[in-house]
Amino acid sequence: MDLKSLVLSILLFFFLLTAQAQRTAILGALDQEIEILLDSLRGKKEVHRGGLPFYLGKLQGKKVVIGKSGVGKVNAAYTTAILLDRFQPDQVIFTGVAGGLHPEALPGDVVIGTHLLQFDFGQIDSLGFHLSPFRKLEGGRHEQLLIASDSLLVQKAQSAATQVSFLSISSRVPRVFSGVIATGDVFVSDQATAQQLYQDHTALATEMEGAAVAHLCRSLGVPFVVLRSCSDNANQNARVSFNQFVRPAAINSASLVLHLLEELD
Ligand code: ADE
Repeated sequence: MDLKSLVLSILLFFFLLTAQAQRTAILGALDQEIEILLDSLRGKKEVHRGGLPFYLGKLQGKKVVIGKSGVGKVNAAYTTAILLDRFQPDQVIFTGVAGGLHPEALPGDVVIGTHLLQFDFGQIDSLGFHLSPFRKLEGGRHEQLLIASDSLLVQKAQSAATQVSFLSISSRVPRVFSGVIATGDVFVSDQATAQQLYQDHTALATEMEGAAVAHLCRSLGVPFVVLRSCSDNANQNARVSFNQFVRPAAINSASLVLHLLEELD
C-alpha cells in the first residue's frame, strides 16, 4: 500500500469510528440544571431545532447533545420529541433537582429514578381523583402506571454514584436512593401531598418532567434514565429551600451525569 492510500485508510478508519460513536442526549429543565455541563462541554456547537437551542460536543470524551426542556410535562414532551427526532440519540439522561418525598431524603441527596410515574393523569368523579396509566401515542392504554428506566443505565448510574464526591447541603454526606420518581405539573409544597405520594406509590422524589421524557423515550424505544438531586422536601418550606439549594443540588445531579458518561460505551 502506498503512503497516500495508507493515510486515506487511516482517515477513513477514524471517520467511521466517530460516525459510529454513540451519542447521549442530556436534558435538564432549567438553566441551572445544565449550566455546569455546558461549561465542561468540549467543542461546543449550538444548533437550533424546532425553535429550541441544543448544544453538541463532547463530555468526558463522549459525544453528547444537551438541551433545556423547560418546566413541566408539556415542555418536556415537546423538547424530547424534537431531540429524539432530530438527533436520534442512543440514550437519554435527564438531570435536575426534585422535592424529596422519602422521609430520609434531604436536600443534596440523590435519587436515581428506576421508575417514573405521572401522578396527575386520571379522572375526577364524585369520589375524588383516580389515577390512570398513560395513553399510548398511537391510542389505547398502557397496562402499568409506572414506566421503567433502562435497567443498564440505572445500574451504571448506581455504580457511577459510588465514585462521586457530592456536595453536602444537609449536615451529612449526601445519600443515594434508587426508586420511583413521581412527576406532575405542580410544584409540590405541601407535607400531606408529599406523604401521600410516598405512601401510595413509594415515590422517593417529585418533579415536573421525568415521566413525560420517559413516556416519549419508551414510545420511541430509546433507553433513558432520570437522575435528580433534592433541592427541598416538597413541604411548606419547599419554595424557600428550592431557591436556596437549587444550584448545589443541580451540581450533584450533573456530577453524577459526568461520572455516568464515563461508564458508557
Ligand atoms: N422540583 C424541585 N422541587 C420540586 C417540588 N417540590 N415539586 C415539584 N418539582 C420540584
